[in-house]
Amino acid sequence: MKHIFQKSETSERTLLLLHGTGGNEHDLIDLAHLLDPEASLLSLRGDENENGMNRFFKRLSEGVFDEDDLVMRTKNMHERLDEYAKEYNFDRQNLTAIGYSNGANIAASLIYHYEHALKKAVLFHPMVPRRGIKLPNLEGVDVFITAGENDPICPKEETEELIKALRENGANVEVMWTTHGHQLTREEALQAKNWLK
Ligand code: MLT
Repeated sequence: MKHIFQKSETSERTLLLLHGTGGNEHDLIDLAHLLDPEASLLSLRGDENENGMNRFFKRLSEGVFDEDDLVMRTKNMHERLDEYAKEYNFDRQNLTAIGYSNGANIAASLIYHYEHALKKAVLFHPMVPRRGIKLPNLEGVDVFITAGENDPICPKEETEELIKALRENGANVEVMWTTHGHQLTREEALQAKNWLK
């Protein structure tokens, strides 16, 4: 995958940055510097191209995922992360995903499919990645979710379903609700920074 890696000289933490639809590996770098200025950064570019827009997996229509593709891309990302950890010598067990929208959805999918895929995740406006599967044991996984009460892409009930599924499987989940639809606001970034501390 196209990516950027920036090694920290002072911190053992690594942030995995996952952009939204139409974004790229540069999008979340400034946000990451705000969230945790000391951490190493691994920022990936989604390798699915939807009419010129980068994504992390295919969709059939807005909010309707191509499940087979999602499963395949999630596995692929999980394996790539193992490889990047060896190549760049970061602690695979100390990875915090920062994802927005489509990036939050692939991060949620990693959590749904693989035990110990992520230590922490900040999910800005995520959706339920899959239904009808058994989630792994998520004890020890910390998740911060922000969601719009009036998000036209992800209804409030869907966010609640995601929170419930994560909690039922042992994850610690904190939530911040906004009234700014699907937008990622500065307030959310600041809350996420506090949560990460
Ligand atoms: C998705 O396809 O992941 C969601 O619809 C959000 C987005 O449009 O990126």
